[in-house]
Amino acid sequence: MADLPTLIGETDIQQRVGELADEINEAYADTDLLVLVGVLKGSFMFLSDLAKRLRVPHRVEFIAVSSYGDRESEEHTGAVRLIMDVRHDLAGADVLIVEDIVDTGHTIVYLKELLQARHPKSLRLCTLLHKPDRTEADVEIEYLGFTIPDVWVVGFGLDYAERHRTLPYVAELPPDQR
Ligand code: IMP
Ligand code: MG
Repeated sequence: MADLPTLIGETDIQQRVGELADEINEAYADTDLLVLVGVLKGSFMFLSDLAKRLRVPHRVEFIAVSSYGDRESEEHTGAVRLIMDVRHDLAGADVLIVEDIVDTGHTIVYLKELLQARHPKSLRLCTLLHKPDRTEADVEIEYLGFTIPDVWVVGFGLDYAERHRTLPYVAELPPDQR
């Protein structure tokens, strides 16, 4: 498998994850319970590295969603569907959604609405990446790793048709390799 062009290297990712963890440790210093809700599958590496650096009391939950139609297909409508829910009650907890990337923003709008209805004490978003050129929905990102251009990225949890997900860095997938 040929090497893909690196967009964000391992060292830069780890440094930024450390900075985000510092921000989160400070912001939630007085929390009774922080619940990280990782969005599967893309967030699993980011969440893992982030959580290792948290010093505030926290739990980990996962949620899985899927877009109607494949993301790469023209049937993609922006509608989102729940595949797997969190396992525990979120009422009264400080909930932090941990996402790999905000692209159109439809997933986050759906998730924020879904989780807000569970009456958390607070609800915020931490995403590793954001592609502002493609974002259609009005999304507030409280903790952001990196802003990237409108290119397809893989690695550090992100995939293309399940490929390249476990690369330790974020690479750009050139159009001729899709
Ligand atoms: P949104 O609803 O359009 O914001 O899409 C968010 C989801 O699409 C992300 O959680 C990813 O799973 C996927 N996605 C969007 N852009 C990329 C990319 O460049 N690489 C890999 N997955 C992506
Ligand atoms: Mg995702």
